[in-house]
Formats: sequence, C-alpha cells, structure tokens
Amino acid sequence: MCGIFGYIGKRTDAGTIVIDGIKNLEYRGYDSWGIAQRQGNLIIVEKNTGKISDVDTARFHQECSAAIAHTRWATHGGVTQLNAHPHTSSDMHIAVVHNGIIENNELLRKNLQEKGHIFLSDTDTEVIPHLIEEEQKISSDFASAFQRACKKLEGRYAILAMNTKSGSLVAARKGSPLIVGVAKDQGYFIASDIPAFLNYTRTVHYLDDGEMLVTDGSSILFADLESGKEHPKRHIKITRTVEETQKGDFDHFMLKEIMEQKETIARAVNQNEEQIRTIADAIKNAQGTFLAACGTAHKACMAAEYFFSVIVQHHVNVASAGEFKLFHHFLKPESLLIVVSQSGETADVLEAMHIAKLKGAKVLAIVNNEGSTIDREADFTLSINAGPERAVASTKALTGQMAVLMLIAYTLAGKLHEGKTLLLETGSMINDMLNPRYLERIKALAQTLKEEEDCYIIGKSWNFPMALESAIKIQEVSYIHAEGFAAAELKHGPIALIEENTPCLVLVGNDEVTVDIINNAIELKARGAKIIGVGPARHAVFDEWLKVPDVGPAQAICNIIPIQILAYYLAVERGKNPDLPRNLAKSVTVK
Ligand code: M6R
Repeated sequence: MCGIFGYIGKRTDAGTIVIDGIKNLEYRGYDSWGIAQRQGNLIIVEKNTGKISDVDTARFHQECSAAIAHTRWATHGGVTQLNAHPHTSSDMHIAVVHNGIIENNELLRKNLQEKGHIFLSDTDTEVIPHLIEEEQKISSDFASAFQRACKKLEGRYAILAMNTKSGSLVAARKGSPLIVGVAKDQGYFIASDIPAFLNYTRTVHYLDDGEMLVTDGSSILFADLESGKEHPKRHIKITRTVEETQKGDFDHFMLKEIMEQKETIARAVNQNEEQIRTIADAIKNAQGTFLAACGTAHKACMAAEYFFSVIVQHHVNVASAGEFKLFHHFLKPESLLIVVSQSGETADVLEAMHIAKLKGAKVLAIVNNEGSTIDREADFTLSINAGPERAVASTKALTGQMAVLMLIAYTLAGKLHEGKTLLLETGSMINDMLNPRYLERIKALAQTLKEEEDCYIIGKSWNFPMALESAIKIQEVSYIHAEGFAAAELKHGPIALIEENTPCLVLVGNDEVTVDIINNAIELKARGAKIIGVGPARHAVFDEWLKVPDVGPAQAICNIIPIQILAYYLAVERGKNPDLPRNLAKSVTVK
C-alpha cells in the first residue's frame, strides 16, 4: 500500500514526470498525495489530502531534474495534509517517501526529539529524514548516512530519499517492492510498480530485500544494505505494454477487467504442460500440501479444495495467509505450500512463504504480476497471464487463479487434457455470455437493488467460496452490507436475518448438490426472501434468474462473473467509483 515514484536524470521536467507516473500507482492508495522537487539547493514540497488523479499535472512543470512523489494509504496518522508524504529533515535538505511500517518509530522519534528534532506529523515515516540528518552529522556522505539510518529501522519498507546537497536519490527495500526503470538517454525512474514509468522504459532492475541503490541520474550503484558493499546487478527487459495498463473505451478498469474474462481463462490455461506435470508430481509426493492467500485469492484456494476433492480425491489444507503461521507445526521439509496472489506483493502471503521456507518446505506461487516479490522468491511459479489488474476489486485474476488450480487438479488426476478442454470450452462460453444484452440485463437488476441495505448470498460445494467472494465484491465497491454463507449453514443462525423482500443470491450448478441448495432457497423464500438465482437452469423458486453456461466442475468460474457485473453496476448506480473504493488499496503490503 502507498505508491512511491522518483525520477533523476537529464530531463528537466521531473515534476511532471513523477506526478504523471504516480497517477498510475493510485491503486496502491489514494487518501493523500505529495511531491518534493529539487530546485537548486532547495527542496520544494507540495502535498495534500485527496486523490492524486484529481491533481493537475501541468502545475508541476518547473525546471527540475530530480523529484519524488507519493500516493498514500494511511497507516500511522490520519488523513491530513501534514501526514501526507514527502516528509523532510529539520534543515529541509532531505525529503523522504515511504511504503511500509516502521515498527520502532516511537522509540526513534523520542530519541530524535531529545536531540532537538521537531516533528510535524503523526507518521512513522517522519523519523527517517531526521534519522538520516542525524547520521549525516557523523559523516556527511548521504548514501552512507542513509544506509546507517536504515539499519536502525525495524519493520517493512521501501524508502526513496532525495538530498539537495549530494544531488542524488537513494532507495532501500525491506519487504515492500521497488523497481528501477533505466532509460539510458534520460535517467533513472524508481517506483513501487512498473506502470509508473512504462511510458519511458521497459528495462528494469528489481531491488531485492536488503538491497539499496544510489543514483545521481547518470549512473546507478547497488549495494547490500547491511554491509554497504557494492555489487553489480543485471537488468531485465519486460514485455508489458502501456496499452495493457490503460482503461481504453471503458468507463472503469473494473468493467474492462470483467470483460477481459472473455479471453483470460484461455490465457491462464495456456501453461507449459511439462511444468504443470512437475507441479502435479510435487503435490503427489509432498507430505502435506497447503494453500494460503488473502481476500479474493483465498476464495480461489477454497474453491481449489473442492477441485482437489472432487476431481482427484486429494487432500489439501487451505488457510487465510494471515492465519497461516498458526499452522506451522504441520509443515515439514517434505511439505508443499501453494501461495496465490494477483499482485505477488501481499504481506501476509509473503510471511506465509517465509514460514514455509524456514521449515524447509517448497513453495509454488500462482501469481499474475510477474517479477513481483512472491514470483521471485518462490521455488516454482505459474503465471495466470491475465495482464495487469488495476481495479481494486479483483475479477479476472480470480477466475484465472481458479482455472490454473483446476488444471493442476486435473493433471494430478492424470487428466490434463480433459481439464484443459473443459477450461477452454468454459472460456469460450464466457466469451458468448459477456455480450451487451447480458450486461444490460444485470444493470437493470442493479437498478432495482441499489437502495437495498443488506444482501445475502448462498452457495454449496465450490459455489460456497463463490458466495463468500460475491459478498466481498458487493461490499467493497457498492458498500451494501453483503454476506455469503454455506447454504446448509442457514438454518444454524443466518436465516434469522431474512425479512420480507430481503435479496438473496443463490449460486447453483447442475450437479449432485443442486437439489439441496434449491431446497435451501425454498426455505429462504418461505421467510419472504427475494431469490435471485445464478446458474445454468431456471428453477421455480427464482424470482430473478441470471443464466450462466453449464460447465460442470468449472461452474464456480462462470457463476462469479454475473455477480462481479452486478457489484460493478450497484457501485455505479449508487454513485461510487468502483475502481477506487473507500479505505482500500489494491496491493496490501502491510500486515
Ligand atoms: O494481490 P493479492 O491477490 O495477494 O491480493 C489479495 C487481496 O488483497 C485481494 O484479493 C482483495 O481481497 C481484493 N481487493 C478483493 O477484490
């Protein structure tokens, strides 16, 4: 959470470069923003509350060759102008932007205050420029003072600092991502994520944990943060295009990404068969296979538990990544952990990985963001190949994750080609389903539901995690109170919530549990609920029906899509921006 972006080099429009670029990182946090520009021997800071996308870039067109910018998701200190980044040293020669949490900030702040430093904000970040300033009193070299300061910090961070005296940018990473874009004729771009600088270069260095860099705009040095020892670092050419990261003709990224599911299932299934077989063998031979993820990706893992049970009768253990450390006793060197993450940067997922590695277990990562920390640290990685997902609400990543997990289950059952065929057919039926009439139909339904305060969703088998996922989608973008349940659980409590006309979405397949869930829907209807069925067949109990193709074990992949569309239109009809829901950020890099 929080996006950071800095530029230093030959160009003299650093201010507009960083403001323009940081707008592409808005998904990482959007409660406040700020910029520091180096103007000769001065640092000019401007910061405020509100969204960076509302800021006029042209205002920052001043002669300037180094600048850093930030878009914030508040952790320490409320959403105020003073708490927005950058933060500066007392002498105003150092400016810092930060992503992460400095856990020992209170102690550091107290020590610095005793030395006369005055703090203007409530943030943990503000200790960093003051600490560097203090270290510069011991020896004035900016990079080494920065390195010594970082060694005093506890917690997770990506830090980018600018100094007027040395005229350089320095950065360090411990737990939060930082990527350097290199454009030989222009200079260096340092960002939390690639879209910030994709307009300028596709040549990148990924900073590793415990690594720092120093650049004056004409060359760059990488060093070990602990020892300060320099080392060479190879760059990588990435294939991402600017177009992939744009909204195109769509009003919102969320709708664009929902519609991309016409092709992303096929892209997810397009895996190297030998690699999938190797992974299936690793699962077969593992003494315990665990799956861990957060939020929507966790619901993909929950669905996978059913895939492994029904398709191959193989037991796997699923945990929310934030809870995973409590199960470390079950891990052995022979165990396998499968982590699933769109961003590849989620802090709780990274922690789960580190726990597994400490126990000597192997880690398979299923990610979308190639080059991300989770991708680079895993023993094996499978990409879902969905292309950049910008909307905070995860849509195409979920269905891609489920497709890959299902393909693994089929491969483990010795039926890779059967699984592939099923998933490709599912993709093609989704392509047909996602037509303008289908969208209009769901938009009309959203118009009838937009004033509702509560909504419940039930599912059974793999549709149970999709009921939980439906609730996340509706909650996060429309702010309607939504809850998902395992259909059989209704009678154990939740049915007490049902009143006359309470909307209840019922996710149905065409399988051995259909009769049970239809009975559960009938029980809801008997208590006054309005039943909105999602499934391949119309049942008499449905007041409304959202038709989806009949795709057998891949039903969860189809059933969630109309709910994604419904959540989108509920948000739009209620006047909310579905791409930037309140209180959230796309990439949750704090625990
Ligand atoms: O990047 P990840 O897949 O690791 O993210 C996990 C969750 O933060 C994410 O799925 C979140 O729940 C989405 N905003 C839900 O739409």
